[in-house]
Amino acid sequence: MPQSRPPVARTVPALRKALAPYRRTGVALVPTMGALHAGHIALVRAARKRARRVVVSIFVNPAQFAANEDFGSYPRTFGGDLKALAAEKVDLVWAPNATAMYPEGFATRIEPAGPAKAGLEDAFRPHFFGGVATVVAKLLLQCQPDFAMFGEKDYQQLQVVTQLARDLDQPVKIVGCPTVREKDGLALSSRNVYLSTAERAVAPVLHRTLKDCATAIRKGAAIADRLAAGREAITMAGFTIDYLEARHAKTLAPVASRADGPIRLLVAARIGTTRLIDNLGV
Ligand code: PAF
Repeated sequence: MPQSRPPVARTVPALRKALAPYRRTGVALVPTMGALHAGHIALVRAARKRARRVVVSIFVNPAQFAANEDFGSYPRTFGGDLKALAAEKVDLVWAPNATAMYPEGFATRIEPAGPAKAGLEDAFRPHFFGGVATVVAKLLLQCQPDFAMFGEKDYQQLQVVTQLARDLDQPVKIVGCPTVREKDGLALSSRNVYLSTAERAVAPVLHRTLKDCATAIRKGAAIADRLAAGREAITMAGFTIDYLEARHAKTLAPVASRADGPIRLLVAARIGTTRLIDNLGV
């Protein structure tokens, strides 16, 4: 028997009304921009383990896209998303339109610092974390969840959101969930649909390189040397690299050796018109 579609709230008053009876037993929020894939479904399942009620927000947030980025072409698959969420028995979908989220006269923007100024995504997408922080703060205040789930795939975003919840005294636990990958290692991303067949075939080089670097660094190789070799491998495969870096896993500060603390390797690279990011713990 087909699952019935989850209720969809479109306005803040409707959201509040729908959430009121859920409060007593706990709510976990999964913020998304839709175009749901198995990575999002893993977040929904992780949410289900934490709380009795699971709310998924679907909102392609214009505030986190720069004018030259892919807001217009970002995949929108609302019907399919609802079906997938019905199969997961999600309790509520929060799907405001841009006017419900940013009504006429909206004039507040959160500018995060700390991990948001690590010189990684922020160096290439200066607009991004201000837009993410603003919408995530709104989502947390609108839904007041006990837990909010974020994929480790967007590792810097996870650190930014964790800092934001702490700094704004939000009574929520931010939960990071492991990246879900294709069999060949490519991290699932809504943007993978942009890849041509040829680009898709070389895309796993990102994860493979991260793995090779992590293994070598674990065995004692010099970080700078390994990253240089990694950059070469990724470039040879046809990517243009924005960054391949080793950072402190919590603060995202640069690290020179393993003595500096737990290390996370992070990469962003472009192929054709597609920009991919990935990361891995050492
Ligand atoms: O990771 C995403 O999909 C988005 O950046 C988020 C957290 C839903 C905010 O728009």
